[in-house]
Amino acid sequence: MTRSRAAVVRRFGGPEVLEITEVATPRPGPGQIAVRVRAIGVGFTDLMARSGDYLLQRRLPFTPGYELVGELDDGRLVAMSLPKMGAYRDHVVVPSWLPVPLPDGLDPVAAATIPLDYLTALSLLEKHARVETGDAVFIQGAGGGVGAALSRLGKLKGLKMYGTASSPDRLSTNGVRFIDYRSQDFETVLAEEEPDGVRAVFDHLGGAMVRKGYRALAPGGVLVSYAFSGRPGHMVADTVKGAIGVGLRGLLPGKRTALCMVPREVKSDHTWYRDSLRRLLDLAAEGAIHAEAGAVFPLAEAAEVHRALQHREITGKVVLTTE
Ligand SMILES: NC(=O)c1ccc[n+]([C@@H]2O[C@H](COP(=O)([O-])OP(=O)(O)OC[C@H]3O[C@@H](n4cnc5c(N)ncnc54)[C@H](OP(=O)(O)O)[C@@H]3O)[C@@H](O)[C@H]2O)c1
Repeated sequence: MTRSRAAVVRRFGGPEVLEITEVATPRPGPGQIAVRVRAIGVGFTDLMARSGDYLLQRRLPFTPGYELVGELDDGRLVAMSLPKMGAYRDHVVVPSWLPVPLPDGLDPVAAATIPLDYLTALSLLEKHARVETGDAVFIQGAGGGVGAALSRLGKLKGLKMYGTASSPDRLSTNGVRFIDYRSQDFETVLAEEEPDGVRAVFDHLGGAMVRKGYRALAPGGVLVSYAFSGRPGHMVADTVKGAIGVGLRGLLPGKRTALCMVPREVKSDHTWYRDSLRRLLDLAAEGAIHAEAGAVFPLAEAAEVHRALQHREITGKVVLTTE
């Protein structure tokens, strides 16, 4: 039996619970394909799952990670967004519809920054908000992984964008009007700048932010929630409560609400998933969207990467490599 490495969480906790262990290399069954992992995208969701704060990953033990780039047995490079966590390892076995070929010229490490954040952004914009060129929108956390992907796709679509962040650094190049969440109230800024309201609000914080975002909408506008992560340590309960609240609010007349959960969408709509990821990888290969890792570390340093991200010592999208 051949052996390979996997990062495993056996109990929820701090970065130290993320252990690199030796495991049997998985073998594909019917309808599955083996992939040698080359690069893994790290998202905030991985940290939430590790600490037990993520509704979709409550079982132990598990391997974190939703996105990767790898190599098939015939040498072809592929990217994928997993419907269930498990990317932090040397080898994965996945359903054969999941891998999407990498276009020529796209660097595998850069490509690993694309799947989850950009599929989420595309789903938010096209499936849930259905925004049009020229629409004014508000992006909560526009400098984060999903927020930056939303901003870049929004710029390509010609949206008028407002976004919160702690610093303007990553917003102006994406054409987003900066609102400092530490010193400004976004509802007040939007009321001044867009007195008729915005067409769409994208929120990952939940609670009061959802209520304020909903009030900032124009008649016929839509609030799309894709996480409820405003209170670390309470995200499981907040997600359940928040999802119910967003659903109920959607029953009110005049405005819409929607919930986006990409791992579920990958699993339930293979055609949307494959077409969308192919399109995004092509955009990255053409340089139309900026695909670049903010930092690259070996898989063996996954726990240290989680620690540094938690303490905000690293910014930008982090990629782990198996070499
Ligand atoms: N629904 C889905 O399918 C899906 C997919 C991917 C991710 N997610 C979820 O989306 C969330 C974001 O993930 P991510 O990987 O993009 O995380 P991330 O890179 O850490 O980004 C989060 C952003 O939130 C901003 N932020 C923090 N406190 C804020 C506040 N009080 N007001 C406004 N913005 C604030 C931060 O801004 P600064 O850096 O400027 O402080 C940061 O840029 C997570 O909860 C994740 O689980 C959901």
